[in-house]
Amino acid sequence: MCGIVGYVGGREAQNILTGGLRRLEYRGYDSAGIITIDDKGTASLQRAVGKVSELDAVVEKSKNSNHIGIGHTRWATHGIPSERNAHPHKAGDIYLVHNGIIENYKELKAELKNHEFASDTDTEVLAALIDSLYDKDTELFDAVAQALKLVTGTYGIAVVSTRQPEQIVVARSGSPLIIGVGDGETIIASDASALIGHTTKAIYLNDGEMAICTADNVELRDLAAQPLSAKVETIEVDMQAIQKQGYDHFLLKEIMEQPTTLRSTLSGRILLDQKQVRLGGLNMTADELRDIEHITIVGCGTAYYAGMLASYYLEKLVDGLTVDVVIASEFRYRSFHLPKNTVALVVSQSGETADTLACLREIKQRGVRTLGIINAVGSTIAREVDGGIYVHAGPEISVASTKAFTSQVSAMIMFGVQVAQAKGAGIEVTSKYVEELARLPEEIEKVLTNKKDEAKAVAEKYAEYDHALYLGRDTGFPTALEGALKLKEISYVHADGYPTGELKHGTLALVDDRFFEVFLVLDDWLFDKSISGLSEVNARGGHILAITNSKKEVDAETVVRIETDLEVLAPLVINVFQQLFAYHIAVAKGNNVDQPRNLAKSVTVE
Ligand code: F6R
Repeated sequence: MCGIVGYVGGREAQNILTGGLRRLEYRGYDSAGIITIDDKGTASLQRAVGKVSELDAVVEKSKNSNHIGIGHTRWATHGIPSERNAHPHKAGDIYLVHNGIIENYKELKAELKNHEFASDTDTEVLAALIDSLYDKDTELFDAVAQALKLVTGTYGIAVVSTRQPEQIVVARSGSPLIIGVGDGETIIASDASALIGHTTKAIYLNDGEMAICTADNVELRDLAAQPLSAKVETIEVDMQAIQKQGYDHFLLKEIMEQPTTLRSTLSGRILLDQKQVRLGGLNMTADELRDIEHITIVGCGTAYYAGMLASYYLEKLVDGLTVDVVIASEFRYRSFHLPKNTVALVVSQSGETADTLACLREIKQRGVRTLGIINAVGSTIAREVDGGIYVHAGPEISVASTKAFTSQVSAMIMFGVQVAQAKGAGIEVTSKYVEELARLPEEIEKVLTNKKDEAKAVAEKYAEYDHALYLGRDTGFPTALEGALKLKEISYVHADGYPTGELKHGTLALVDDRFFEVFLVLDDWLFDKSISGLSEVNARGGHILAITNSKKEVDAETVVRIETDLEVLAPLVINVFQQLFAYHIAVAKGNNVDQPRNLAKSVTVE
């Protein structure tokens, strides 16, 4: 989604801003722009539709050596992707970049009669509002603070003024902003990846906080101008982790690195000899863990499916536990009641997803304990939960989530084992999970090595179909949902996941030559029932791609055998094949694999 960068210091701002925007490209965007200001207060604005490379071409024609500026990648919410809608937006002496949505922009716009609007954006309304309050005796900070008091919605903003060309004013409410503290320079970003290589010291702004940033100083205040103390933290992301390292796409790199990233998730947490799990960071006593009676899992998209798959394991692991899994965008508006002794698991790769964050806040208001299953260290959700498990999968750059899913499910299974232990479950219940988790990285490695070519060949065979049905039972069902999501988002092939047992209740009517059907046939106690569903589709001339970990006979147009002796965690191994399959279909179609159309990595607006 939209990205913000800002720079004030001794170096040339243009390069740093465009470099920062390139780092934010993975978030998804449709236009980009920068503004820099010289010491005399002359502004130089460049904007372009499309990629940062288009912006580079525009910047090249108006190079300058200004030392202060702000930049933005825009993912359209109000107004089509166009140069005039691209940020930064100007009003009077100020320029503004903004992530989020100003909900009352229509009402505000109606009042701002003196400003001639040049775009269709809510952001320009905020710029005009600030400008209307920025008379010649007013400090930029005060004008911004006054304006923000009149605004409803979400924002992360950076504002510069040609009248005060030595400072950037930033503010946050619902949209992340990080201030990188360098040596004689300050760098602002909506995402830590834009700071890497510049500084490892950063201040994470909280909601309701603002700052005046100059080259040598960061002054934190609240909206009432009261000074706040700033906590400078260390950023842990390294440069290697955000590079393709020889792969054609980040997506492929992230699929291939799962054995390593999963080892990081498990590291120090699996006590194989004791067949136990030890999680730090939950901030819960053994008694509190023992008393858990209900778990609600919240997430969006892949994080939701990770929760759904984990829920099957949690129910199996913890006797008497009830689990429900909810989609954040729905749950946040429901009149929900959570039973006593509930713990909510809030699942998010980015830790910034607006709906998931809103749910977290709703749940906390009801006095329910929240635990984060988060990848991005220092993200908003990670900071607001009562405790949790960082999944340590490293930066996920490709828009489609892959390695985070595997790590999220594994983290939640570890949590289930820990709860089971606290409730006195013997190792006869937990050991299978602990042993299989410990072996999961090498089993995934085997698929990646042995099935890489087969995934490509099978993908090429099915690349021309317009529709796909993904079918599975039990843990195979959420795995099928995730497989379908991966296919649709990167290949633009219509794909849906269903429980195999639902076929006869309507879905079977879809089977024809425009469809292929991916059956996940797990070698479990429901194997025969899975085969019955598959046979029903076969009997109707379906084009079946069966993916199975069984050695038993499976009659289908194409059968992919995943060789793993994992039993309970086989779906996670099978899912890796699904990831490769979707990747190769997207490549065969010539799509932008890492940045699929219309999508953004981190969905920070509703
Ligand atoms: C799918 C995908 C999205 C995200 C969803 C939640 O591949 O990437 O469905 O899973 O937007 O994002 P996070 O996990 O960052 O909250």
